[in-house]
Amino acid sequence: MSVLTLEHVSKTIGRRLIVDDVNMAVEPGEVYGFLGPNGAGKTTTIRMIVGLIRPTKGSIRVMGHDISRDRRAALSHVGAIVENPETYSYLTARQNLVHYARLAGIPHAKRRIEEVVDLVGLTGRVDDKVKRYSLGMRQRLGVAQALLANPKLLVLDEPTNGLDPAGIREFREMIRNLAQGGMSVLVSSHLLSEIQMMCDRVAILKGGRIIAQRSVSSLVDGTASAAMIRVSNENAAVRVLKDRQWDAEVSAAHVIRVRTDGSAIPKLIRDLVRAEIDIYAVEPARESLEEAFLELTDDKLASSSSTPAGGVANA
Ligand SMILES: Nc1ncnc2c1ncn2[C@@H]1O[C@H](COP(=O)(O)OP(=O)(O)OP(=O)(O)O)[C@@H](O)[C@H]1O
Ligand SMILES: [Mg+2]
Repeated sequence: MSVLTLEHVSKTIGRRLIVDDVNMAVEPGEVYGFLGPNGAGKTTTIRMIVGLIRPTKGSIRVMGHDISRDRRAALSHVGAIVENPETYSYLTARQNLVHYARLAGIPHAKRRIEEVVDLVGLTGRVDDKVKRYSLGMRQRLGVAQALLANPKLLVLDEPTNGLDPAGIREFREMIRNLAQGGMSVLVSSHLLSEIQMMCDRVAILKGGRIIAQRSVSSLVDGTASAAMIRVSNENAAVRVLKDRQWDAEVSAAHVIRVRTDGSAIPKLIRDLVRAEIDIYAVEPARESLEEAFLELTDDKLASSSSTPAGGVANA
């Protein structure tokens, strides 16, 4: 069973359609990313998922419980940081967690606090006052708080906003660890690189719609349609290949890019060797999520008049 399911979810505020017919599912142990520019509807969708606002249409289920009809049961499986987590900076992290555990009626709080502190990597600093914490540590304390009730789904809206590169990397490792332990995570970001490194699957949102939903690996690996070849003389190599009807271009100093699928690479190499071009390396050109993202959004723009958004293949 999916941990989270959205079916035909829409949200209208005032007269504006802000979320438009969103369909998605998050599986156990999966890190699922919402990627989209400012105003795409990420936060609005997340606010519906964590029960802060109601969908205008459609249904949201968490562990099979409909969030409108069976709200308590549904939300009992959700831990979230949506708005900035409230912490008392003059208290220690542990005192904050004790306070939240009490508010939330967490059983065996003492033991659970040790567990979540360990999960987010704050052991050793848990008895420091929060005012001495870095932003990254505060974020992890927020996650610890969200994990107290042992949710199946963790929801984080732009969790790495404001973190430095080291903080982002630590945060990402923590998320990957949680997923390894079976937790599902829904995370939003407008940073492509971050989603690419953190998530298993990504939904690309634009104007309140999911315009594509793909596994990150299919976006990153599945689209290699070119080979990058390191040679001594890139201009000579391109000339030779063009003579033989290859679609080749200089990509960088000593590197050429040849449009081909994997099966033609042996012939490509033979052609170069016969022309006495020295080859130092051959690699598939991995399309970054960014390129794929631009391609997808361009495609949609080009064909939006004829193709409904649902026409984009799911992974
Ligand atoms: N309460 C509201 N009333 C009116 N409009 C709203 C409300 N909440 C959101 N919107 C509008 O809905 C659109 C989507 O907003 P949302 O915050 O969901 O986007 P987002 O993808 O989270 O963007 P960001 O990357 O800036 O956080 C925006 O145009 C926003 O102005
Ligand atoms: Mg937002």
